[in-house]
Amino acid sequence: MDIRLLRPSDIPQIQQTNITNLPENYFCKYYMYHALSWPQLSYVAVDVSRPKKSPYDAPKVVGYVLAKMEEDPQDGVQHGHITSLSVMRTHRRLGLAEKLMRQSQRAMYETYSAQYVSLHVRVSNVAARSLYEVTLGFKNNGTEAGYYADGEDAFSMRKDLDYLREEALEEESEEEGEGSVGRDEGGEVGSAGRAGEGAERLRKVRVGRQLGVGDLVERSG
Ligand SMILES: CC(C)(COP(=O)(O)OP(=O)(O)OC[C@H]1O[C@@H](n2cnc3c(N)ncnc32)[C@H](O)[C@@H]1OP(=O)(O)O)[C@@H](O)C(=O)NCCC(=O)NCCS
Repeated sequence: MDIRLLRPSDIPQIQQTNITNLPENYFCKYYMYHALSWPQLSYVAVDVSRPKKSPYDAPKVVGYVLAKMEEDPQDGVQHGHITSLSVMRTHRRLGLAEKLMRQSQRAMYETYSAQYVSLHVRVSNVAARSLYEVTLGFKNNGTEAGYYADGEDAFSMRKDLDYLREEALEEESEEEGEGSVGRDEGGEVGSAGRAGEGAERLRKVRVGRQLGVGDLVERSG
C-alpha cells in the first residue's frame, strides 16, 4: 500500500471512492480546486499490490484525504481544514485513514505554518469520531445544528498542531548535539586548534522544513 500526494489524474477514482463511502459529494472541479490550490495537502492511499489486468490498468485508489487551508479564517489564525476523508470498506482498519490524516496535518504545518486543523463530523459517525478523538487527539469545539443537507448536526472539531513545532525543536536540538560531537572529532588540536579559538563560531540555520509560505510573506517594520 502506498500513501502519496494526490495527483489531478487521480480525481476520477477519488470521486468514485467518495460517492461509494459518503453522502457528501462534490463536482470534479471542487477536487481540482483543492489539488491546484494546495497541492501539498491532499493524499491518496493506493493499493499497488493489486494485479494489473492490462498495462493501462492504473493502481486502485482505496482511500483519500482532501484538505485545504482556510482562505479567510474568521479568527484570523492560519489553519487547515479537512474537506473529506474516506477509505473503501475492503481496506478499513488497516490504519490508512490515520496515516492519511497525519500526512496532511504535517504538510499543513510545514508548508503553510498552520496552527491548527479543523473538520466537521456527523454526530452519529462513531467510526470517524473515534478516529478523530481517540486516535488523533481532536477536541470537540461545539455542535453545529442541522449542518448536513439531511438535517443532522455536526461536531466541529479541531486539533492544535503545536506538537509538530515541539517535535521539530526536539529534532533540531538532537541534530545540534550530534553536530558538536562531529566538530570536536574533526577539529584541529594543539596549538593549531587554539589558534582558531577566537574565530567566528559556526551557527546552524534552518533551511527547507518549516519555512512555509507564511515565512515568505513580506512584512513591514
Ligand atoms: C472513518 C474511516 C475513514 C476510518 O478509516 P480506516 O482506514 O478504517 O481507519 P483506521 O484504520 O486508520 O483506524 C484508526 C482508528 O480509528 C478508529 N476506528 C476506525 N474505524 C472504526 C470503527 N468502525 N469503529 C470504531 N472505531 C473505529 C479506531 O480507533 C482505529 O484505531 P484501531 O484500529 O487501532 O482501533 C472509514 O471508516 C470510512 O471511510 N468511513 C466512511 C466515510 C467517513 O465516515 N468519513 C469520515 C467523514 S467525517
